[in-house]
Amino acid sequence: MKRVAVVGFGFMGMTHALNILRNADLQLVAIVDKDPETIEKNLTAKSGNFSTGEIDPAQISNITKYSDFDECLEKEKLDAVHLCVHTDLHYEMARNALLHNKHVFLEKPFTLDIKEAEELIDLARRKSRILMIAHVVRFMPPYQKLKHWIDSKEFGELKFLSLSRFSGIPGWGQWKEKQVTRNSGGALFDLNIHDIDFANYVLGIPSEIKSAVLSGGLSKNDYVSAMWSYADKNVHVKIEGGNTFHSNFPFQAGFMAQFEKASVLYTSLKSDIISIADNDSVLEVPAGDAGEGYTNEIAYFADCLKNNTLPAECMPSSSLDSIKLCYNHI
Ligand SMILES: NC(=O)c1ccc[n+]([C@@H]2O[C@H](COP(=O)([O-])OP(=O)(O)OC[C@H]3O[C@@H](n4cnc5c(N)ncnc54)[C@H](O)[C@@H]3O)[C@@H](O)[C@H]2O)c1
Repeated sequence: MKRVAVVGFGFMGMTHALNILRNADLQLVAIVDKDPETIEKNLTAKSGNFSTGEIDPAQISNITKYSDFDECLEKEKLDAVHLCVHTDLHYEMARNALLHNKHVFLEKPFTLDIKEAEELIDLARRKSRILMIAHVVRFMPPYQKLKHWIDSKEFGELKFLSLSRFSGIPGWGQWKEKQVTRNSGGALFDLNIHDIDFANYVLGIPSEIKSAVLSGGLSKNDYVSAMWSYADKNVHVKIEGGNTFHSNFPFQAGFMAQFEKASVLYTSLKSDIISIADNDSVLEVPAGDAGEGYTNEIAYFADCLKNNTLPAECMPSSSLDSIKLCYNHI
């Protein structure tokens, strides 16, 4: 079993820990949070904008807790770290972990500074360590089905894809702290990046992006409406969403895709099905559980650790392209 630590035990730290505990190839040996009280508090509460599950306190009672990442790196024999701290700490902590020869699973967005991301990619290569950014949508069953239909051309060529994601302004954990919100990159880099990254994953870099952004409580780009064009494929992609709504606004995400022979619809508001329509009928197929994306991405990282292979489905160079694409919207 590979020995791992979770660093930052808020919404995502709890989610990663839960899925590490479920994984037969990983052993959670340490949890780091600068505020240790957070660890107990976040076990059962719905700590983010939707529920990703709960941890039985008994499952982590024997796991060593640290308030300092350096101390954990020094005292524990770790294979990998799961960094679930806010974006302003991504570079510093990932660099520290790689310099200590640890494999790194880092929450999105990679880093807002392109040079820092390039440096981390280079460092991981020089140290022969796996660096993977947690782009969970790539691992969500409904989106994996969509990718399969695009790749297999089961419904003919893709003509138009609309990806959307809306949320209230984050009101949990450190999201109330000015420094955190200021350095988050706003909804564009924090929320819409999920869809920007998915479009990048399935279709690559577009030839043109037309975009409009609106400011909100976090940044000048907390709402984005964009149209991407791929001249070579004659495909258009609409990206829309943001977090300009009040904190308790229900989270919703989904996709609509028009293929030559059918149009498909998925929305998290009716998350168990994907509708597939043509001019004669509409068929409903099981969507799978989008929440399994968190389990799947950690299982994929664990497989990469076990087989000592690069994360081909989610290379850090591709995650860096997604950061560059975000910048192309402003
Ligand atoms: N993939 C997703 O669906 C998803 C969803 C939400 C957030 N995220 C990403 O996850 C990251 C964390 O977001 P969150 O919503 O979980 O935040 P959060 O505020 O809930 O948790 C952050 C935690 O980090 C801890 N922390 C801060 N500084 C630390 C330090 N120096 N050492 C150790 N711990 C420290 C805080 O005490 C807090 O418990 C962000 O990068 C965010 O973009 C991803």
